[in-house]
Amino acid sequence: MTINERAARALKEILKRPGNDTCADCGSPDPEWGSCSLGVFICLACSGIHRNFQSPAKVKSVRLSRWEDSEVQFMAENGNEVARSKYEAQVPVYYYKPTHKDCQVLKEQWIKAKYERLEFTVDRKPLLYEEGTREGPLMKRGRDNGQFLTRRFVLSEREGTLKYFTKTDAKEPKAIIKVDTINASFQPEKIGNPNGLQITYLKDFNTRNIFLYNESSKEIVDWFNSIRAVQLHYLKVAFPGASDVELKPKLTRNFLKEGYMEKTGPRQTEGFKKRWFTLDHRRLMYFKDPLDAFAKGEVFLGHKDLGYSASAGLPPNTHCNGTWQNGITIQTPDRSYLFTCETEVEQQDWLKHFNELINTVMSPQEYSMEALFKHRH
Ligand SMILES: *[C@@H]1O[C@H](CO)[C@@H](O)[C@H](O)[C@H]1NC(C)=O
Ligand SMILES: *[C@@H]1O[C@H](CO)[C@@H](O)[C@H](O)[C@H]1NC(C)=O
Ligand SMILES: *[C@@H]1O[C@H](CO)[C@@H](O)[C@H](O)[C@H]1NC(C)=O
Ligand SMILES: *[C@@H]1O[C@H](CO)[C@@H](O)[C@H](O)[C@H]1NC(C)=O
Ligand SMILES: [Zn+2]
Repeated sequence: MTINERAARALKEILKRPGNDTCADCGSPDPEWGSCSLGVFICLACSGIHRNFQSPAKVKSVRLSRWEDSEVQFMAENGNEVARSKYEAQVPVYYYKPTHKDCQVLKEQWIKAKYERLEFTVDRKPLLYEEGTREGPLMKRGRDNGQFLTRRFVLSEREGTLKYFTKTDAKEPKAIIKVDTINASFQPEKIGNPNGLQITYLKDFNTRNIFLYNESSKEIVDWFNSIRAVQLHYLKVAFPGASDVELKPKLTRNFLKEGYMEKTGPRQTEGFKKRWFTLDHRRLMYFKDPLDAFAKGEVFLGHKDLGYSASAGLPPNTHCNGTWQNGITIQTPDRSYLFTCETEVEQQDWLKHFNELINTVMSPQEYSMEALFKHRH
């Protein structure tokens, strides 16, 4: 195989032009692959998805493949911007556009929706996410036994609810979840399924977690975007006059950080126990197991002027019998919390997040949240 020098040079020039320097699908920098079928430059991860289309795309490496002059010509006539104006002409506000940091299932369905199902072109058909109602079976993890069982889910825009039923023919739902309290996020690793979706909602002022999946990637991503479509509908009612740009961040909520630390109890004599921690903005929740329905407890992280601080290390007199050595002390107006991390890298990363929050001025909503915490604990 001889490299077509002229084609390789021309290709390098095209790649340098603005807009072709990030992946057309996930935005990751320096895409090194080109789809000769669509005329877009994409990253390695996305190129794998293009190869798995029902009629597989012809994907080539910019650096290593031999390109024909006609193919380079095609790339020159198209490119990422041209493709975007065609295939992303009308992406609804609620539709979650993944970045390179997102999980595989989100990227895969975005790319398929875009180029295979042509969901966002100018002459697109009405989208099923906008039908206002959706119904079907999903696997749901049992709260007490941890077993995944089929449950029937029903989403209703008219009622503003997501319900689920234990039996297919059951009249009464097991739970009625108000859609405006839902946060949904993909958690494939934690759930142990590539299509694992975590839904959190408020139940009697507590955050309740449920864990779902469906064996079909399309099905679970469709549920995710249908829920977001209904949520957007309710946000528009709650915030009349707010622009789409203002509403969009309210639909997406990813945890700032999750992982294991050890912690002591309030008297700090019980010894250190390993717990799973989730940092959801100013709320640091901890769980015995990452897939628990409810947190065992939570710590509110307020602004430093109100008596909150986070620092490396443990107080000198701590009787530390945990297995991990990298201590963190969080001081709140009420008490101090002692944690240990497995590695120094983890310790520094948690501290970075804690201190960012502690140095950020609180919103009025966060003041009321703090008051609620003080009342409860
Ligand atoms: C990318 O390359 C194409 C040619 O392939 C060019 O027309 C376009 O201006 C470049 N930039 C963007 C943003 O697409
Ligand atoms: C996954 O979703 C499809 C489509 O609604 C459904 O037919 C199938 O039974 C679901 N699978 C499970 C295990 O719930
Ligand atoms: C969901 O996210 C919103 C912010 O987008 C937050 O105010 C709310 O507390 C979260 N709800 C739950 C149940 O986690
Ligand atoms: C740690 O020390 C406390 C108090 O001395 C004790 O109750 C606890 O069992 C110890 N834990 C471990 C894991 O050794
Ligand atoms: Zn990509």
